[in-house]
Amino acid sequence: MNGVAPRRPRLVGFAIVSREGMIARSDGSFPPELRIPADQTFYQDALDKASAIAHGRHSSEGGPRRAARRRIVLTRRVERVVTDPGNPNAVLWNPAAAPFDETWMKLGLDDGTIAVVGGTDVFGLFLNLGYDAFFLTRAAASVPRGRPVFPGVGDGTTPEDVLGRYGMVLRSSRVLDEATGTVLEEWGPKGA
Ligand SMILES: NC(=O)c1ccc[n+]([C@@H]2O[C@H](COP(=O)([O-])OP(=O)(O)OC[C@H]3O[C@@H](n4cnc5c(N)ncnc54)[C@H](OP(=O)(O)O)[C@@H]3O)[C@@H](O)[C@H]2O)c1
Repeated sequence: MNGVAPRRPRLVGFAIVSREGMIARSDGSFPPELRIPADQTFYQDALDKASAIAHGRHSSEGGPRRAARRRIVLTRRVERVVTDPGNPNAVLWNPAAAPFDETWMKLGLDDGTIAVVGGTDVFGLFLNLGYDAFFLTRAAASVPRGRPVFPGVGDGTTPEDVLGRYGMVLRSSRVLDEATGTVLEEWGPKGA
């Protein structure tokens, strides 16, 4: 290191939600009605362009290229940032024990993009750190109760309510899959 602080990577979120803003069922399982091929293609292609993926211990993006990707796995089981003993491409991070900067520096990332892929608390934590963009895929399928995309979603509070509270605005919206009525929204920080 030459004394110049490395630039922070861009933080970009990706989630697919039910009509009610849920990412999973109450038991933590992934609802098959949210497995939409057009979304999977968009998602996996976007992750291929990211420098690393960040997610909680019970989530991952899946797919055939998973093992090759660098990743940050959130867990309360460690007291500092450590390389995952089972995966040299991953670091284990406990946000209560170490700042985010230490984590991505441990991965050796100077800038680039970190793709944040959930679950609920992880999406919420990165709202506080500040997303540069959030891609919210909205399925027409109903999963009325379950794990929300952000803490606080449900009981009348929508994902867009929460994004708005964190200064995020809708940048664009397009139909991703007509047959299932799936729409992809891109949110970004107001004024950026
Ligand atoms: N629809 C979507 O876009 C989407 C996105 C992501 C996930 N999902 C689905 O959601 C389900 C899993 O959801 P989940 O919320 O249980 O998963 P998760 O966030 O992947 O895993 C929860 C675990 O992550 C760790 N963790 C989370 N927040 C933390 C924090 N602030 N500090 C330290 N550790 C933290 C904890 O691990 P320890 O127990 O090790 O401490 C916690 O038990 C799966 O079915 C998955 O497929 C769907």
